[in-house]
Amino acid sequence: MALFASRITPVMQSSVALYLVVAFSVAVVYFVRYFCAGAVARSRSTAVRGAKAGSKGSLSLEPYVYPVPEAYPDWSIETTKPLPYRAFRYGPKYHVTMGLRTVSPEAWIELDNDFPKFHAKKADRLANRLEKHVYTDPIAWDAAIELLDELVRYLPQRYPTLYRRMPVGIDNLWSGESFNVVQRPLAEDPMAICARLVQDDLALMVEGEDGRYYLRAGSILLAGFWRLQDKLGMPLEDIHTTGEVPQYREKLHRGMANFFTRLRCGQTYCRNNYFIQVDDDLAWSESIGCEDGDLVSWSTAEKDRAVEHHWFRSERQSLRRLPKSKAVAFTIRTYFHPVTELAQEDYVPGRLASAVRSWGDDVAKYKGREKYGRVLCEYLDREHQKQLDQGLDMSKEDEVRAYPF
Ligand code: HEM
Repeated sequence: MALFASRITPVMQSSVALYLVVAFSVAVVYFVRYFCAGAVARSRSTAVRGAKAGSKGSLSLEPYVYPVPEAYPDWSIETTKPLPYRAFRYGPKYHVTMGLRTVSPEAWIELDNDFPKFHAKKADRLANRLEKHVYTDPIAWDAAIELLDELVRYLPQRYPTLYRRMPVGIDNLWSGESFNVVQRPLAEDPMAICARLVQDDLALMVEGEDGRYYLRAGSILLAGFWRLQDKLGMPLEDIHTTGEVPQYREKLHRGMANFFTRLRCGQTYCRNNYFIQVDDDLAWSESIGCEDGDLVSWSTAEKDRAVEHHWFRSERQSLRRLPKSKAVAFTIRTYFHPVTELAQEDYVPGRLASAVRSWGDDVAKYKGREKYGRVLCEYLDREHQKQLDQGLDMSKEDEVRAYPF
């Protein structure tokens, strides 16, 4: 050993020192790279979790991209009928619930051969009453532009015989309209352009500093029973409590707040509801008061109008989070038919009569049953009896018409 030590020359000593320095440097480089990569991975997974939770402060590196939909099978503006939503259930008891279900992303927006009617009604109201029906708060401007961009991407893929994607926007092949969505300023409020593209009313809910969701933009043109100006700027809670939505506090408030906080970009939810209206105006039900008046209430409606004036109004609402702005887009598509037409469908009069009778006092008051219930139920009972007399097999109902149809 001594012999060996005595043989280490100064040259050898400096080589060893150099080797140790190089080895140490390499180790430091590897350590730093490993540490940083871990930090990035950790921050990335935090961002993904944030995005999943829908948190506005999400650091998500790449925003979620809503899938490009398949074309709606054989869709035609002449022949594709409105989907037959009959979203009411047999009694004995009506339960207030959120009633949400997931749907595939491609089912986001539903168009059908009622498009011309809806489009004309909207165009008329946009021309004559724009400021009452359309508003975008500056805080929601980016979200409104994002909603428009999402529609421009989605519609030509889903409804290629109605819409064509253009370098600067979208063309409606049926109406001949061209919408330029890249020019600035835009020709009109982005929510107004969105309104012209679909049959739905549209609203944007934006998270506030307090974590609640506020109505910050809307094009509400065919709502029937409520007005944008009464609800603008309100959090979800006030939107519903000012309308005296039955059992909101006990049955809906907490679940809805959680739903909005947790909604992820990749999810699309729907819910359906139904009302009876005792006049035939899709846009606004005059029976509950003048659209521009002070008093809007079922108390003003005429009692016991003939059943020919009874209309079935059902909304199919969708909810999804916009990936960039993180606002929640709420769409409200109304399906509107005379009760006398609906009652010709197998099983429908029996089930509707049972549903209307199943409402508790609070729900009955909210839906105005006192004004039409007697006339409606007597009529539906008669139509139901006719179907039974013609041999309707009640045991087959679930096979023929499952909820919400
Ligand atoms: C999870 C989402 C939601 C649930 C579960 C929900 C639930 C309800 C329910 C149960 C009603 C009573 C009528 C019906 O049966 O539909 C109602 C009414 C209403 N909802 Fe919602 N809602 C939701 C989201 C929204 C959003 C985002 C808006 C924003 C515009 C909104 C605006 C309204 C309005 C304006 C009414 C009528 C209130 C009135 O009569 O004054 N809802 N909602």
